[in-house]
Amino acid sequence: MSDVLEQTTFFKDVISGLQTMPKKLSSKYFYDQKGSEIFQRIMKMDAYYLPGCERFILENESKHIAQSITSENIQVIELGAGDGTKTSILLENLLAAGKKIEYYPMDISADILEFNQQRLSRQLPLLKVTPVAGDYHLTLNGLPQVEGTKLILFLGSNIGNFNPTEALAFLKFVKSCMNPGDHFLVAADLKKNPIQVLKAYSDPEGLTKKFNINLLDRINRELEADFDLDAFDHYATYNPLNGLAQSFLVSLKQQKVEIGGTSIPFASGEVIHTEISKKYDSDELRELMKSAGFIPKKMVYDTNRWYTLALGEAASSKGTG
Ligand code: AVJ
Repeated sequence: MSDVLEQTTFFKDVISGLQTMPKKLSSKYFYDQKGSEIFQRIMKMDAYYLPGCERFILENESKHIAQSITSENIQVIELGAGDGTKTSILLENLLAAGKKIEYYPMDISADILEFNQQRLSRQLPLLKVTPVAGDYHLTLNGLPQVEGTKLILFLGSNIGNFNPTEALAFLKFVKSCMNPGDHFLVAADLKKNPIQVLKAYSDPEGLTKKFNINLLDRINRELEADFDLDAFDHYATYNPLNGLAQSFLVSLKQQKVEIGGTSIPFASGEVIHTEISKKYDSDELRELMKSAGFIPKKMVYDTNRWYTLALGEAASSKGTG
């Protein structure tokens, strides 16, 4: 962790999360260097079907997405862009449709954006790329006003980590940064055979367990804590009624953990809630977009309909709240 303030926020969030009942830790803290590496490996697992679905949709539907946006000039803004590997498929199709594109990948990590830009400049030399490092809550409103329309991307099914209240607040925030006629493309994992969903978060290789346990290890490393990593296990559930896949760390014995001078007691079998990965159905996602002030324009799917990319257009603020 780089700066002191960030460090303090992490510490405060960890302590207050572990002092509430039930105990919780935010999944946004999974992604330190080591956690990001584990996540890269998760994305390559057969059981973790999400990236394959998204790639399929981008390869097969990008042309149709491009056709749905009539404007010639498009400012493509990606929230949480990462290395942008899959996004290039969409960008390529927008260029092939004759659009003039500027690409603004946004990410917390300046390093990954640097990597993103270098690869893209080789792959699509004509594309103008302007990396924007930092928290998108702070950077999204500061972009230059240009002619044409914005297309804001939120891929990777990252919306799944928000609970319903947070998801609506997030979409409303995005909408507040847009002009009427701008577009928003959001990826969501869909409800499907619950056995399939559960397998993605309860993999036999144990990578999801590693991913969760790494959060305790990170707290040990960064916040002077003494979690015994062998005294916790990982447990995942999926509820097909509300579409919530949830992850927990389970204390395997009664124990006390010291975190930067604060002592946290655990009962044997007590859980820490670490993550929700919400699965939507199409109507639910459309309704959510409408509630945030978007006009749903198009939804595209993979062949199994396991995953979707939903395109919405920002309505004029009047009457849409
Ligand atoms: C990056 C939020 C899409 O919830 O599916 C993968 C993260 N967690 N395995 C997801 C994750 C456990 C992932 N997202």
